Amino acid sequence: MKKFFPRLDNKAILAPMSGVTNVAFRSLCKSAGAAMTFTEFVSSTALVRGNGKSFVMTQVAQNESPCGVQLFGSSEEEVLIAAQKLQDSFDVIDINVGCPAYKVVRQGCGSELLRNPQKVGALVRKLANNLDKPVTVKIRSGINKKLINAVEVATICEENGAAAITVHARTQSQGFSGDADWSVIAHVKRAVGIPVIGNGDIRNEHDAARMLQETGCDYVMIGRAAKDNPYLFTRINHFLQRGATLPPLSLVDQMKILFRYYDLLDQFGFEHIEFFKRSAQSFTKGFEGSATVRLAINDARTVDDVRRIIEQYLEEKSLTVNVCRGKNSNK
Ligand SMILES: Cc1cc2nc3c(=O)[nH]c(=O)nc-3n(C[C@H](O)[C@H](O)[C@H](O)COP(=O)(O)O)c2cc1C
Repeated sequence: MKKFFPRLDNKAILAPMSGVTNVAFRSLCKSAGAAMTFTEFVSSTALVRGNGKSFVMTQVAQNESPCGVQLFGSSEEEVLIAAQKLQDSFDVIDINVGCPAYKVVRQGCGSELLRNPQKVGALVRKLANNLDKPVTVKIRSGINKKLINAVEVATICEENGAAAITVHARTQSQGFSGDADWSVIAHVKRAVGIPVIGNGDIRNEHDAARMLQETGCDYVMIGRAAKDNPYLFTRINHFLQRGATLPPLSLVDQMKILFRYYDLLDQFGFEHIEFFKRSAQSFTKGFEGSATVRLAINDARTVDDVRRIIEQYLEEKSLTVNVCRGKNSNK
C-alpha cells in the first residue's frame, strides 16, 4: 500500500545535521515552530551491529511528531534491517543521498549514490515495499556541474515509491561552498508529483518565502541558520502567515533559549559540555560585545563555567536570565 508524506502544519523543516540535531536540539526547534525534524544521519551498519551510540542518536522527544530518521548505507539489506528496527519510533524513514564527506563517499554511500540512480531506485523500492512508514530521499543537485542529475534521480525515486524528496541545491563537488542553485529545485518540482522539500542557503524568513515562491517547492528545509538560531522557525512561520517580520530576539530571550536547550540536554541524559559550548558560541553571534564571550567559552571546561561567562556578560549589560541548574551541570 502506498504511504504518504505527512501533511505538515508549517512550511519550514529542520535539516538533518550531524553533531547538531540530537533529540534535545530537535525538540527545541519543534517548540520554536519547526514543521518537522530529522535526526542526523545514522549508519545502517552501526545500527545493524547494535552500536549503542547509534541508538542514542535515534531517541525521539514527545513533542516531536512528525520526525524522520535519516539512514545512510549502500547495502539494501542493511538499510532495510536498520529501518525496520526504527520504524515504530519515527513517522518517516529518510535515505541520505547527499553527504559529500570522504568517509561516507568512499563506502559508496551518501552523494556517491548519485552516480548510480538505478541503485538509488532499487534501494527506495526495497524500503518502500517492506516498511510500514513512508520513505523519503535527501539528494544533492548532482555530482558536479557537468553531472547535474537531480531530476533523473528524483523521478526514479518517485517511480520506486518515495513519498517525498529533499533537494539540497549544491553538487557533491561543491561541498558547502559556492551558492545553492535553486533552479534545480524548481526543475525537480516540475518533474515529480510527490512533495518536494527545497534546501540550501535559507538564512532568514525572506529567503524562505523566496524559495517557496521561486521554486514552487512544498516545504523548505533549514540547516545552518537554524543551528545558530532555532527561533528562526518562529520568524518564518510568522512571516509566511502574516506577511510581517518579527523584531529580532533580545539577548535575554536568546539566552533563555540557550538555557532551555541545556535543560533538554540534561533531560535526555547527554554529556552536555561540548553541545552546550557549541550552542553558547553560536547563539551569542551577532550580539554586541559577544566576540570576547565566545573566546572565553572556548576555554570553559564545565557547564557552570559557561553559565558564569554568560551571566557576567549579561550583568555587564545590566541584564539577568533566570538560569536553571541541571543535575549534571559540571559535565
Ligand atoms: C554541521 C552539519 C552537519 C550536517 N549533517 C548532515 C546529515 O547528517 N545529513 C544530511 O542529509 N545533511 C547534513 N548536512 C547538510 C544539511 O542538512 C543541509 O543540506 C545543508 O546544510 C544546506 O542547508 P543550509 O544552507 O540551510 O545549511 C549537514 C550540514 C551541516 C552544516
